Amino acid sequence: MKLAIRDLSKVFVTGTGEQVPALDGINLTVDDEEFLCILGPSGCGKTTLLRIIAGLDTPTTGSIQVDGEALSGPSRRIAMIFQEYSLFPWRTVLDNVSFGLEVQGRDREERFAVARKYLDLVGLASFERNLPYELSGGMRQRVAVARALATEPAALLMDEPFGALDAQTRNLMQTELQEIWRKTRKTILFVTHSVDEAVFLADRIVVLTERPGRIREIVPVQKCPHPRDRTCADFVEIRRHVLDLISGGSSD
Ligand SMILES: Nc1ncnc2c1ncn2[C@@H]1O[C@H](COP(=O)(O)OP(=O)(O)OP(=O)(O)O)[C@@H](O)[C@H]1O
Ligand SMILES: [Mg+2]
Repeated sequence: MKLAIRDLSKVFVTGTGEQVPALDGINLTVDDEEFLCILGPSGCGKTTLLRIIAGLDTPTTGSIQVDGEALSGPSRRIAMIFQEYSLFPWRTVLDNVSFGLEVQGRDREERFAVARKYLDLVGLASFERNLPYELSGGMRQRVAVARALATEPAALLMDEPFGALDAQTRNLMQTELQEIWRKTRKTILFVTHSVDEAVFLADRIVVLTERPGRIREIVPVQKCPHPRDRTCADFVEIRRHVLDLISGGSSD
């Protein structure tokens, strides 16, 4: 899926009538099958941008085109994975993953077959009868990834999906997501606070300024081949450049 974001701005109006500019003049084209990371300080509008692309919120000015057509609300072709775990606690893993297909009215046999295919892809085939509380944080986010993939969208929007995980699990999930992307070739927009995570995953990194978020720079990472070696010279150099862009400070 190709996305073209033109002159997009968002101003929130709070309960007291105060205007909060969240995004300002965003121009960005996301290519089909691209893995794009969005990096920026807290409150710079990253979640807002994903919500607008998902059709869950509307821009104040500007427009978004999806494969050449104006975006007009939520679409089955775009799935979002949220910042916090968002599984249904009372549903089994299998019922969580097949939820979107249930909403689409697909019959039980078909939805379970599709759900099992994606549970297998994220390595959780043997946990289909478990409830979310019985899983670790990393496993729960894998269920969330499988649930998003099950409706077979063309694009995945991921809002800091690994932010709550310990460093080791997070690295593992990054490697797995790369593998899933390689196999499924979705267009992925991935929000993160971690420079290291962005350089590991992305084709290009969009670095945003402080609120209101504007594009500071778009950093290409394609010259590092996958799977990326965090110690290779290009990786280290790009990482340093992005760090300089966001603060000159530390990464995580
Ligand atoms: N519904 C809303 N009403 C008013 N202001 C809002 C609303 N949603 C977001 N904002 C404001 O817009 C700005 C951007 O919020 P957003 O959640 O997009 O930031 P973010 O970059 O995702 O931050 P974080 O990295 O902390 O998740 C913030 O200042 C926030 O307070
Ligand atoms: Mg956010």
